[in-house]
Amino acid sequence: MTYQHWTIESLPWSQLDPAKVGPDLLKVIKAAALVEYGADAYAEYLCRVFQDDPGFQAAARQWAVEEVQHGKALGLWAEKIDPSWSLEGAMAKFRAGYTPEHFLGGPAGSVRGSRSGEMVARCMVETGTSSYYSAIGDSCEEPVLKEICKHIAADEFRHYKLFYDTLNRYLEKEDLGRLKRLKVALGRIAESEDDELSYAYYAANAAEGEAYDRQKSNRAYVSRAYSFYRPKHLDRAVAMIFKACGFKPHSLAYKLATRVAWWQIESQTKKLQKMAA
Ligand SMILES: [Fe+2]
Ligand SMILES: [Fe+2]
Repeated sequence: MTYQHWTIESLPWSQLDPAKVGPDLLKVIKAAALVEYGADAYAEYLCRVFQDDPGFQAAARQWAVEEVQHGKALGLWAEKIDPSWSLEGAMAKFRAGYTPEHFLGGPAGSVRGSRSGEMVARCMVETGTSSYYSAIGDSCEEPVLKEICKHIAADEFRHYKLFYDTLNRYLEKEDLGRLKRLKVALGRIAESEDDELSYAYYAANAAEGEAYDRQKSNRAYVSRAYSFYRPKHLDRAVAMIFKACGFKPHSLAYKLATRVAWWQIESQTKKLQKMAA
């Protein structure tokens, strides 16, 4: 296969326009850069979980190369907009303070209970990132970031497909019913809203010496991140969640779920903005 991945060098850097970047956008991009840049640790964990599946291990390694590239591209963009910030410096802070247990080695099993469960969780992360970069790309005006988001979102949709196909391969051997899949999916979504992104937001943006306040950091992050979303981004995300759990998209339940998701995003954003005012 001669798939040509995009490169950081080929981005239209000469068109960079810092005047089109607001402080909130810059903050969330710095946080996103850290989460993406740290993906290589996750690939090692995935290779342990799928220790006798060399085909998937190779795909997981390539996946991590692409995620790290996302981190580098976003980090470099943020460094150019704010020369006082450094990706490596912020990353050192993120790594020092945030290490999920399963990155530390230990048993070969998935923290999700099965390989299928692990793939459902990965599908949720790719659902989140694909919709997030689509939303930022659609709403931002800065040409280089727009281009970066377009490339990244396309990669994230492809990653979802990799994990979704692997999920289906394992579902033939493992028994993981739809409700169990939904439980893993909702658990993984709740997790990202909690610690990983909040800590990344803190490591990327806090002033020197400022202590980590999880709630404060979470609110600051979520209120900004949600503001980019439009209903079409959520509709697609809900369809991807449904698909990964084995439920039919475009059913009545799907329609209901998209309404609930949009209501949740809107009310949360309003509440957090009010609290910040
Ligand atoms: Fe990514
Ligand atoms: Fe991805």
